[in-house]
Amino acid sequence: MQLTVIWMKVLVTGAAGFIGSHTAEKLQKAGMEVMGIDNFSPYYDITLKRQNADILKDLGVEIVEVDLRDKERLLQIPINFDFIIHFAAHPGLSAKSTFDDYYTNNVLGTRNLINFAELNKDLKHFIYISTSSVYGLKVDFPETTPPNPASDYGSTKLEGEELIMKEVELGSMKASILRLFSVYGPRERPDKLYTRLISCGLNNEVFRIFEGSEKHSRSFTYVGDIVKGIYQAVLRYDKINGEIINLGAREEYKTLDGIALVEELLGKQIKIEVISKRNGDQLATSANIGKAIEWLEYNPSTTLKEGLKKQIDWYKNLRV
Ligand SMILES: NC(=O)c1ccc[n+]([C@@H]2O[C@H](COP(=O)([O-])OP(=O)(O)OC[C@H]3O[C@@H](n4cnc5c(N)ncnc54)[C@H](O)[C@@H]3O)[C@@H](O)[C@H]2O)c1
Repeated sequence: MQLTVIWMKVLVTGAAGFIGSHTAEKLQKAGMEVMGIDNFSPYYDITLKRQNADILKDLGVEIVEVDLRDKERLLQIPINFDFIIHFAAHPGLSAKSTFDDYYTNNVLGTRNLINFAELNKDLKHFIYISTSSVYGLKVDFPETTPPNPASDYGSTKLEGEELIMKEVELGSMKASILRLFSVYGPRERPDKLYTRLISCGLNNEVFRIFEGSEKHSRSFTYVGDIVKGIYQAVLRYDKINGEIINLGAREEYKTLDGIALVEELLGKQIKIEVISKRNGDQLATSANIGKAIEWLEYNPSTTLKEGLKKQIDWYKNLRV
């Protein structure tokens, strides 16, 4: 089905981050007017976020430094958006993160953003970017399966989903939820598997792997495919009010297979050290994407090898 791109004013939260920056870039290039907000959280090196923001600014995206936890500051932003896509979150399973970090950013930040969204009289739709982590430790279900998160990250992202769905039920906002599965590619966060692996491989450092995780399997999904899925959702916003849709890859790989691919692409072996197990790590994720294919004509096509090659090229050209 061919859909026409319409001009819209779009607010992207977490626009300086990994997936938010790619999405803001895609929408701006498609002719929409994008404003990005981000608090440049120090969860990882903010030089990377500044670089992402600079790429967007060069394309004409306005970037505003705002912390969603700060209600007053949020209310200083103009209220003229047609669309809001909410990526900003405290991500991952870092031992350095506290429950407060997850709760204040992922739940209170989302609550404040909803209040802000409802002031936008022309708002057509709100997309909440969620995660397969809401499902729990083993995941291969459709969206109708009751969630059972096993980490503070997963449970606070689920609370964010519930806040959104409450507004949809009340009829005060039109919104949908996209649950993403293990996204990788250029600009991937430095705490995540592939950026760490590539960095260790290129810098001859030891790669530390959590005990047991070498056998974990994941639907590793290339960021370009995820962004296409989000874009398809934007174009079909009037069909997906109140819907939850998984976005992931068609195939799963074990962590060890991913390591072997990076070694093959770098042409060298990476030294591995096993360290103690990390709680909350998902054991197996297999994205059930039937609904995305049907509703969004979603078609993830990038192989893990192709995507990793692009991620390695990006890493080699990083200016940090
Ligand atoms: N990376 C993945 O594999 C993955 C998988 C599933 C879901 N997601 C979801 O995608 C979204 C983006 O993840 P990412 O990997 O790009 O992470 P990221 O950390 O690179 O991006 C998040 C951005 O949000 C900003 N931010 C955090 N708290 C904020 C606040 N209170 N106010 C304003 N900005 C704030 C951060 O500074 C960061 O730039 C998150 O909602 C995450 O739950 C990611």
